[in-house]
Amino acid sequence: MSRKPIIAGNWKMHNNCAQSVELIQGLKAELKDIEKDLLPEVVVAPVFTSLYAVDEELKKCACGKIKLAAQNCFYEEKGAYTGEIAINMLKDFDMSYIIIGHSERRQYFSESDEMINKKAKAILANGLLPIICCGETLEQREQGITDKHIASQITKALDGISSEDVAKSVIAYEPIWAIGTGKTCDSIEANRVIKMIRETVKSLKGEAAANSIRILYGGSVKPETIEEQMAQSDIDGALVGGASLKADSFSKIVKGAMA
Ligand code: 13P
Repeated sequence: MSRKPIIAGNWKMHNNCAQSVELIQGLKAELKDIEKDLLPEVVVAPVFTSLYAVDEELKKCACGKIKLAAQNCFYEEKGAYTGEIAINMLKDFDMSYIIIGHSERRQYFSESDEMINKKAKAILANGLLPIICCGETLEQREQGITDKHIASQITKALDGISSEDVAKSVIAYEPIWAIGTGKTCDSIEANRVIKMIRETVKSLKGEAAANSIRILYGGSVKPETIEEQMAQSDIDGALVGGASLKADSFSKIVKGAMA
């Protein structure tokens, strides 16, 4: 079964409006001469305050080559939740995906598996798709509990979600020790963990969902690493942090995923 690869750029807390527009213009220029069907799904996740400007820029002839994502959302529709943003508000833009459960949100903003599950359900109910992040700390890896920890994160995140919705969703395996450290997880090991995630999805939601769900790798992905990562049987793309902040390096990763 062939799954369409995704290369997603998580811009994290970088770039004001002008910088975001400059970056998206640079990316559009880099991808201009490539036919859309040859590209992986290319996704960018700017900060909330840049979504409007990036969305406008994408409407100006990006020819559907670049999709928009948000880095977070809240699961309630509206109300007294100071500082939060509802999914229907994100739908003011041509939004495709919402990243949830990133380790930085789990670590710095105390997001629990239960909250991530509620967000996943609300995103799907709104007709958008979640990119659900999971990953172990170095300590957990050294203790030999990587697989157990990740299977637990995935089981909780997908609780109560139909097989059909899981099939459309995206998971990103991001070992925490590989994020922003320059220390990429070995491709064979990343593939092994991703296969384990797919097996977990299969046992929870059935074979069709497991075969369809796209599972990305994230953690110090660079132009030099992408080809080997994409050559693995179960890695369906990448969630890129640092290297997505320059049109040049991100487009090289996009192109590397086509090779
Ligand atoms: P880096 O690519 O900077 O390691 O970040 C990965 C990440 O956290 C993407 O969500």
